[in-house]
Amino acid sequence: MKWTVLENPDAVASTARDRIVQASKLAIAARGEFHIVLAGGNTPARTYALLAMASCDWEHWHVWFGDERCLPIDHPDRNSFMADKTLFSKVGIPASQIHVIPAEAGPAKAAKQYAALLEGVPPFDMVLLGMGEDGHTASLFPGQAHISGKTVLPIFDAPKLPAQRVSLSAEILGQCRQLLFLITGKDKAVAVSRWQQGELLPVAMMNSIGNSEVVIDRQALPGKSD
Ligand code: 6PG
Repeated sequence: MKWTVLENPDAVASTARDRIVQASKLAIAARGEFHIVLAGGNTPARTYALLAMASCDWEHWHVWFGDERCLPIDHPDRNSFMADKTLFSKVGIPASQIHVIPAEAGPAKAAKQYAALLEGVPPFDMVLLGMGEDGHTASLFPGQAHISGKTVLPIFDAPKLPAQRVSLSAEILGQCRQLLFLITGKDKAVAVSRWQQGELLPVAMMNSIGNSEVVIDRQALPGKSD
């Protein structure tokens, strides 16, 4: 895992934007399309807003989601809502290539439907992930047993509300050429420290078949927040 430490969240967002643009150009040149899994939460919003101003071959992009909250499709707390507001509404990715998790159907039904959609898709070209203050990533939370062998998991008891979610599994999230964690802010420093000390947190379970990088600001490093 490569750690790239930057001064602040804006630097993290612009570095992530650069990594994504570069990955998209390489994938489209090599295979004619770019498959990316988006991270949810708030951190990636800056990156998606910068991405929306980049010059990319959007018509060759295929977008997936690492997880989704089981809320109505137009709920502002949905990861798809944030991605649409910051990115999809501003660029020309064909709607048929934006694969939103149908989480409004509930965890079990949505997980089944999304797993079917993902048949034959990985490896992804890029997977973006965030990290919660407890070391969770996507909707994989510490101390929760996750059914192995499944690509998409129904989550019924997430400690970060809403409790009902849908999450890609660690196995399928690792099926990617490039894995990029985006982590900012002092409230993540404790989880980063636990991760760096070897605790088997969900973030530590992510190993890509390609390369993996953490793009992080100084505030999120243990002992660095002023
Ligand atoms: C979610 C996210 C989650 C997120 C982390 C960090 O649906 O909640 O997928 O895994 O990435 O909780 O969230 P912030 O970026 O808002 O700190």
